[in-house]
Amino acid sequence: MLDYITDKVQDENRQGEAFAPFATDPNQYRKLFYIESYGCQMNFSDSEIVASILNKEGFGATRNFEDADLVLLNTCSIREKAEQTVRKRLTEFKKVKEAKPGMLIGMLGCMAERLKSKLLEEEKLVDLVVGPDAYRTLPGLIIEAEGGQKAVNVLLSREETYADISPVRLDSNGVTAFVSIMRGCNNMCSFCVVPFTRGRERSRDAGSIIRECRDLFQKGFREVTLLGQNVDSYYFVDEVKDEIVTFAKLLEKVALISPLLRVRFSTSHPKDITDEVLHTMAKYENICKYIHLPVQSGSSRILQLMNRTYTREWYMAKVDRIREIMPDCGISSDIIAGFCTEEDADHKDTLSIMEYSGYDMSYMFFYSERPGTLAERRYKDDIPDDVKKKRLQEIVELQGRLSFASNTKDIGKTFAVLIEGDSKRSDHDWRGRSSQNKVIVFPKESYRLKKGDYVNVKVTACTQATLLGTIIN
Ligand code: SAH
Ligand code: SF4
Ligand code: F3S
Repeated sequence: MLDYITDKVQDENRQGEAFAPFATDPNQYRKLFYIESYGCQMNFSDSEIVASILNKEGFGATRNFEDADLVLLNTCSIREKAEQTVRKRLTEFKKVKEAKPGMLIGMLGCMAERLKSKLLEEEKLVDLVVGPDAYRTLPGLIIEAEGGQKAVNVLLSREETYADISPVRLDSNGVTAFVSIMRGCNNMCSFCVVPFTRGRERSRDAGSIIRECRDLFQKGFREVTLLGQNVDSYYFVDEVKDEIVTFAKLLEKVALISPLLRVRFSTSHPKDITDEVLHTMAKYENICKYIHLPVQSGSSRILQLMNRTYTREWYMAKVDRIREIMPDCGISSDIIAGFCTEEDADHKDTLSIMEYSGYDMSYMFFYSERPGTLAERRYKDDIPDDVKKKRLQEIVELQGRLSFASNTKDIGKTFAVLIEGDSKRSDHDWRGRSSQNKVIVFPKESYRLKKGDYVNVKVTACTQATLLGTIIN
């Protein structure tokens, strides 16, 4: 059992706060860059790789895009709305650029990959277009763009994992960090653009993952989230050690760095999460008891059209298995309302699988057709917007009730909480999370705690989104 109450032992390895690469002295760097990230955690993690590459070229980060020589948008294509947001932002940047002609604007990430040079040619909104596997070529592309050329690299790679690049943590709280363990996706969910924007799946060298996590721990971080579109298919052959590293093995290796380092991961595809992973989670207290297990739909007919490769029953059996092995495990989901041909009966199946699974939290969307995907080519986007929105609203309302019920069940229980910082509302309160990934807010009182400490907190009240509690000494 870990001693989660703060003590001196857990401070031995904390060597001060993580550094921020933001320029404090304007003359410290040759030039300044500004980066804004959209989309999933993998994109935020990629921005830290980009920051590292740019730092080495003498670029320092700035928080004000007006000051930057290079403005970068790391973009997402997952839904149409995500792309509209970026386009709006680009027109704002363009206005600033008109007054500052030397400024370069670059589009990175999934939208860059999807639209390729279209943005340079048709709309003249950007100077650089760089896809997710081409960030190493950024320095050369910047020089080309500075010389007035169109700079584009959207080549996808089968090998690139940026394994050797140490990410520069941007806007970090110094306690929690994301670590990419793989890139791309080999699944072909019919609604999804990711396989086209991110390319083939590849796993990062296990040794480099462990080194990055150990280094984070030594810098004072106390939680790592291992990232991939489908982490359970992680597979690395370590030829030096003559060892096959599965996701379960990787989890174990990271957990063994220190019992004070919490380990999380995202995302798990229901078809790939194994008993071996579940048993490894159960075995190590510092592997958080929380699984993000996107269901997408509760109807087997829709799941088949989505090409998710599992049925409603299969998913429910997976939830049962998780609860059997880890009765206290939190489960969350992603849900899409109004996929092609969805009928009321299918929608009801989604509502009932949500109840069955008792999700603590969900990300909920209405279906947005994406160019080039299997669904766009094969099926008609035939559910009217008002029906999509009505169904989504019902899903959101049900999730609200489920979250509240799940939080209410926690009242009276005590959780080990990792302190991430002040609560958003008051600097008299701390904010942290339980192993189950629930946010807990509690008064600091007179205890001498700090960010990165563990503390036992008893839950006394809750809202739909947050648990409220008091420190138990
Ligand atoms: N790799 C993850 C999901 C990444 S995308 C997984 O397989 O679970 C995050 C979520 O966006 C998906 O789970 C899905 O719910 C949603 N999504 C993806 N494409 C979408 C689309 N075309 N319309 C609406 N939502 C979509
Ligand atoms: Fe998209 Fe499916 Fe891959 Fe997730 S598993 S990224 S939803 S194709
Ligand atoms: Fe978006 Fe690309 Fe992530 S499409 S969700 S940023 S992989």
